[in-house]
Amino acid sequence: MQLLGLLLLLPSLTEAVTNNQRRRVVQSFNVRRNASSSSTPLQVGNGNFAFGADVTGLQTFKPYGILSTWGWHNFSLPTTANQTSVDDFTGLDWWTHGRLVNYDQPNPAENDISNWLIQNPQRINLANIGFTFGDATATEDDLQQTSQVLDMWSGQLTSSFVYKGKTVSVKTWADPESDTVAISVESDLLTSGGLGLFIDFPYSDRNKFDAPFVGVWNATSNHSTTLQQTSDNSATIQHTLDENSYFTNVAWEGKGSNISGPAKGTYRYLFTSGTSRLQMTVSFSPAPAPASNCRSRSRSTTKNTRSLDTIVAASTEWWRSYWCTGAFIDLSAVNSPNATELQRRIILSQYLLAVNSASSNPPQESGLVNNGWYGKFHLEMYLWHSLHFARWNQWPLLWRSLPDMYQRFLPFSYDRARLQGYAGARWGKMTDPTGRSAPGEINSLLIWQQPHPMYFAETEYRAFPNATTLEKWDEILTASADFMASFAWYNQSTGVYDLGPPMYPVSENTNPNATINPTFELAYWRFGLQVASSWKTRQGKSVPTEWVKVRDNLAPLPVINGTYAVYEGIPDMWTDPATTNDHPAMAGIYGLLPPPSEKGVLDVNVVKNTAEKIKQVWPLDESYGWDFSMLAMNSLRLGDVEQAVAYLLHPIFQFDDVGYPVGGSRVPTPYFPNSASLLMAAAMMAGGWDGSPGPHFPEAWAKDVDVDGFAPSL
Ligand SMILES: *[C@@H]1O[C@H](CO)[C@@H](O)[C@H](O)[C@H]1NC(C)=O
Ligand SMILES: *[C@@H]1O[C@H](CO)[C@@H](O)[C@H](O)[C@H]1NC(C)=O
Ligand SMILES: *[C@@H]1O[C@H](CO)[C@@H](O)[C@H](O)[C@H]1NC(C)=O
Ligand SMILES: *[C@@H]1O[C@H](CO)[C@@H](O)[C@H](O)[C@H]1NC(C)=O
Ligand SMILES: *[C@@H]1O[C@H](CO)[C@@H](O)[C@H](O)[C@H]1NC(C)=O
Ligand SMILES: *[C@@H]1O[C@H](CO)[C@@H](O)[C@H](O)[C@H]1NC(C)=O
Ligand SMILES: *[C@@H]1O[C@H](CO)[C@@H](O)[C@H](O)[C@H]1NC(C)=O
Ligand SMILES: *[C@@H]1O[C@H](CO)[C@@H](O)[C@H](O)[C@H]1NC(C)=O
Ligand SMILES: *[C@@H]1O[C@H](CO)[C@@H](O)[C@H](O)[C@H]1NC(C)=O
Ligand SMILES: *[C@@H]1O[C@H](CO)[C@@H](O)[C@H](O)[C@H]1NC(C)=O
Ligand SMILES: *[C@@H]1O[C@H](CO)[C@@H](O)[C@H](O)[C@H]1NC(C)=O
Repeated sequence: MQLLGLLLLLPSLTEAVTNNQRRRVVQSFNVRRNASSSSTPLQVGNGNFAFGADVTGLQTFKPYGILSTWGWHNFSLPTTANQTSVDDFTGLDWWTHGRLVNYDQPNPAENDISNWLIQNPQRINLANIGFTFGDATATEDDLQQTSQVLDMWSGQLTSSFVYKGKTVSVKTWADPESDTVAISVESDLLTSGGLGLFIDFPYSDRNKFDAPFVGVWNATSNHSTTLQQTSDNSATIQHTLDENSYFTNVAWEGKGSNISGPAKGTYRYLFTSGTSRLQMTVSFSPAPAPASNCRSRSRSTTKNTRSLDTIVAASTEWWRSYWCTGAFIDLSAVNSPNATELQRRIILSQYLLAVNSASSNPPQESGLVNNGWYGKFHLEMYLWHSLHFARWNQWPLLWRSLPDMYQRFLPFSYDRARLQGYAGARWGKMTDPTGRSAPGEINSLLIWQQPHPMYFAETEYRAFPNATTLEKWDEILTASADFMASFAWYNQSTGVYDLGPPMYPVSENTNPNATINPTFELAYWRFGLQVASSWKTRQGKSVPTEWVKVRDNLAPLPVINGTYAVYEGIPDMWTDPATTNDHPAMAGIYGLLPPPSEKGVLDVNVVKNTAEKIKQVWPLDESYGWDFSMLAMNSLRLGDVEQAVAYLLHPIFQFDDVGYPVGGSRVPTPYFPNSASLLMAAAMMAGGWDGSPGPHFPEAWAKDVDVDGFAPSL
């Protein structure tokens, strides 16, 4: 038994990819630009903090974001009678199997507080840092020889340009360990008065999607800044937006520099450098940091006062270690433009996800680039966003949020279930850092986030089959499964447990009052209850009988005309466009989810028919990008590797020159579930799955593919 367990854990039996090889592959995709993009920055960051740069290496002409995990703002509460407090929100009651259940949905009678809860808090753009030129009207067109390169091996962004005949060289890094950007600038213009820096502070925007730039730059009420010079070489600016406040600590090297401002009616501070070689750090924190010296070599005990040299060394080491310790796919020896493009997407996604999504909260869809859904995160997307860190052997990045996030959100989730008359904990959807789920009809009726903890936990147990793993997930899985068992409704006439109505399935476009027994959710419920049950067995505890009863008596997966349907009895499946224009989640039951081991639950022929039908009729140009990865994973398990690659390189599934996943017709760019799901599909190609270890690449590529460090997926 022991031996078998060990064997299953062994990564695929291919040669290790050496560090030199990794370096060569990574750096061959280093991003180069010679002009600012109007849609995406170049970023340095650490997963909880990121700085988006334009072609100057700062934010001179394009106010890209400086976003963080902790920087949020509330607008003031409404003053409407009875709607002045979040407790005044009561939601709506809907009939649910013969009883009224309360859902957090916008209530027309309490519009103002409903909207407030949707829009608040929003993630804030902490600041804007750029160059000022002697000429205030200078534009990017006034720069010559613009060029920049982002070295993903060290996390260093190097930019240079010529202004008025003089060269300006800029380097930008992020500290892996604090919310700090380190900036080095070399130019004679710095001391001649031809070049300075500015720091500006925007107010929050009320837009659901605040992209490509976050914040309002001309709001002059409701926020304020104060400057405090904390030493000859440092200053702190406190920015207060209504009730929220944070600190920007600026530290520099050398004599004769000066920070001043803001000019009346603005929030713009000017920095002039006393030396032609400027070394500066700008760190952000919710609390004030002690005074610091940018040059101090001693490793400061406070993370927000780390010197530029310390940060450069830390960034170099962090990225080297990131690339060398995780799993790796090397397609560079494959002679095929498609393999090269897949490799490009993989490497750039690995960089961007470490910058934008390795956070202590679930990542938002647009990472730390700009704001989608006010900067909130969606718990049903969390698996797509983050499971790849496990599959690519980057566990410490996943442990930043797991299982702690679920633990923190348990109280809200127990309450949600209890108030609705269910057992256990019902996980929310569009969530802020306190765990509150924003009001919404879909938000309150979506259920596929519920078994995610089981997927994460089971994957972790594969890698770490020990008592610590079992213990740390036990309460979370128990609470999740208790809800799942009590949510399933025993239908006397059919003798099975139904899911819904009301509910929304993965495809969020069905009538919630008619939606019953959707294919994906039924399969996922069974999977989740199965994992929760084995979790108890592994600990020598008894398995709650309700879990087993529900797991073994769920409604059968709905089949219409030889294919799996969106939900049981959905009218005109495949012929009504409304049945085929959202996520094709039926493909998720044999790609993302492992097939059930019991016979008769799932029919592979029906899975095949469904995949074929999706390929024929699904208008994928309307879909969110992770559908392509989900379909690719489905194709892989069905044995069609070529089709899997075709999905991953589908013309609609786009990644820009820097690797940002293009939003498509529905959302702004970037939409990171695309990148994250791509890495999951790639991990499945490299590592295979239970019973079919990898690698699984197209036959023509196979002999030249090198993979390292992947275990089979569930
Ligand atoms: C700038 O970059 C574009 C795209 O990479 C390239 O086509 C163009 O030649 C470059 N221009 C200069 C002046 O380097
Ligand atoms: C916003 O207000 C809510 C409700 O009072 C509160 O729970 C949350 O902590 C506030 N967030 C911020 C960033 O002030
Ligand atoms: C709402 O506020 C008004 C004015 O303060 C009050 O007359 C009314 O009773 C309140 N209604 C509810 C439902 O609390
Ligand atoms: C679903 O039913 C509830 C009553 O239980 C009703 O208020 C709601 O409008 C219905 N929703 C839809 C989309 O039909
Ligand atoms: C700020 O700028 C926006 C967009 O240009 C404009 O619609 C708005 O009226 C301006 N607000 C103020 C207070 O000037
Ligand atoms: C400032 O706050 C007031 C009162 O809360 C609000 O009416 C106004 O819209 C806010 N101003 C901005 C620019 O958001
Ligand atoms: C810093 O600059 C401001 C504004 O230009 C000026 O008023 C102030 O005297 C300068 N301080 C020093 C120490 O140079
Ligand atoms: C047990 O698993 C945890 C992850 O859940 C891991 O951090 C730890 O190193 C493992 N302990 C042992 C003794 O293997
Ligand atoms: C019982 O199941 C059947 C078939 O799925 C369904 O049509 C019926 O509405 C269910 N009964 C109730 C009361 O929900
Ligand atoms: C079943 O499939 C056949 C052949 O494609 C088609 O003619 C028929 O209309 C379908 N029936 C239903 C109920 O969708
Ligand atoms: C490369 O990928 C494209 C898009 O999927 C596909 O059309 C093409 O046939 C592929 N080329 C090769 C040589 O496989």
